[in-house]
Amino acid sequence: MPRIEIENKVLSCPVIVGTENEKAIDISNLRAQTGYITLDDSLANTGSCKSSITYIDGDKGVLRYRGYPIEQLAEKSSFTETAYLIIYGKLPNESEYQNFSNLLTEQQILHEGFRHHFEGFPNNAHPMAMLSAMINAMGCYQSDLYDERSGETSNFDKSAAQLISQVRTIAAAAYKMSIGQPMVYPYPNKRYAENFLHMMFSLPNQPYEVDPLVLHALTLFLILHVDHEQNCSTSTVRLVASSGANLHASCSAGVCALWGRLHGGANQAVVEMLTKIKNADYTVKDFIEKVKNKEGGAKLMGFGHRVYKNYDPRAKILQNAAYKLLKTLGKGDELLEVAHELSEFALQDDYFIERKLYPNVDFYSGIILQAIGIPLNMFTVMFAIGRMPGWIAHWKEITENTKQRIYRPRQIYVGETHRNYIPLEERL
Ligand code: SDX
Repeated sequence: MPRIEIENKVLSCPVIVGTENEKAIDISNLRAQTGYITLDDSLANTGSCKSSITYIDGDKGVLRYRGYPIEQLAEKSSFTETAYLIIYGKLPNESEYQNFSNLLTEQQILHEGFRHHFEGFPNNAHPMAMLSAMINAMGCYQSDLYDERSGETSNFDKSAAQLISQVRTIAAAAYKMSIGQPMVYPYPNKRYAENFLHMMFSLPNQPYEVDPLVLHALTLFLILHVDHEQNCSTSTVRLVASSGANLHASCSAGVCALWGRLHGGANQAVVEMLTKIKNADYTVKDFIEKVKNKEGGAKLMGFGHRVYKNYDPRAKILQNAAYKLLKTLGKGDELLEVAHELSEFALQDDYFIERKLYPNVDFYSGIILQAIGIPLNMFTVMFAIGRMPGWIAHWKEITENTKQRIYRPRQIYVGETHRNYIPLEERL
């Protein structure tokens, strides 16, 4: 058993071994036994929990949801089935699938009171600000979702279905409001992604014609975003959930963490970067040099990952889907060409090779969203729609752990030491 020896104190630390043979040293008694804590900036070496939901092998580029390889789910599953799998831990049988699908349909219409929320936001409000606010609001319209006194979630299945179903309705309604078009109600008998496209792009008396390839690309995008173990936003959901906060409040916090450009905001930043390079008077090679010299903090957005030190398996799948979609739609692939050139340069350049920087999920996803017609400021909302089942699964996992304690990290204080207060009149 590993031992830590500090100032003639010896602490034996149990080793935790996971089902994929990952190993951790349990230091739960470190402070009590030695008075020391560990310090791990950005938690890069720290496991916050044991989880059974998603497994990533960053060196081998492996990603599995509840043991199923992402490549198989992306090719053969649906977003609804994958959402069920990630939340409940198994692929649904016929009746389980039907019940879950019916619950999503039952929950897909927004309460009419929501109109006031949309009208309360300025037309140019960022959809992520709207989404995080409205996630907490949606729970208030159904008194059986959480206890009005304690605020605790009282009906998990229904709350989960409402969140998964209504984030899609809210996103589409926010888009329609932003372009001055009437909200479009979902069909009762359409599948998840198809109904989203309908709500986004149908006009009064002019239903949107769904192109099967567009539907496939959107479904792929959503499945690939469902979960990714302890990423920043999911860790946020778990941290908030550890206080006993309800499912809506925890997922609303997840939306806020996802918004950052280093995380979910990267898909929007990638397309902005590609567009800037496409229209710039400098070459891709010049831009790569700017990144390597860190000029103005320039980063190759959509590249790099805390865990993947190899190709992000999702990026490979999305790259193929982007090529296929643009080719079939006959849409200009200038951005894809810029992305391809950037990737070619970066993957052969020592700066990126030494730092093990490869394309991540965001490098190609924005190109697909743009080809579908999703506006740029909704790209991160699309990430949130995909990630919602994952956040819900992690909230469920931590909430069901009866031994779970509230997350409360320690710190090393480096501020002023003791000093006495001096009243203003005496402070010269
Ligand atoms: C997502 O965690 C998840 O699982 C997230 C996610 C999920 O599904 O939930 O996969 C989704 O958020 C994907 C990542 C999207 N973000 C981006 O594409 C933004 C660009 N990437 C970087 O900001 C960065 O790579 C991160 C944030 C993704 C990871 O950051 P780390 O692990 O803290 O790495 P780092 O910043 O410490 O970088 C190490 C070195 C540094 O150089 P040196 O100081 O050694 O000289 O690599 C450099 C960095 O400057 N570097 C980059 C770079 N990423 C890292 N240099 C240029 N361009 C980049 N993109």
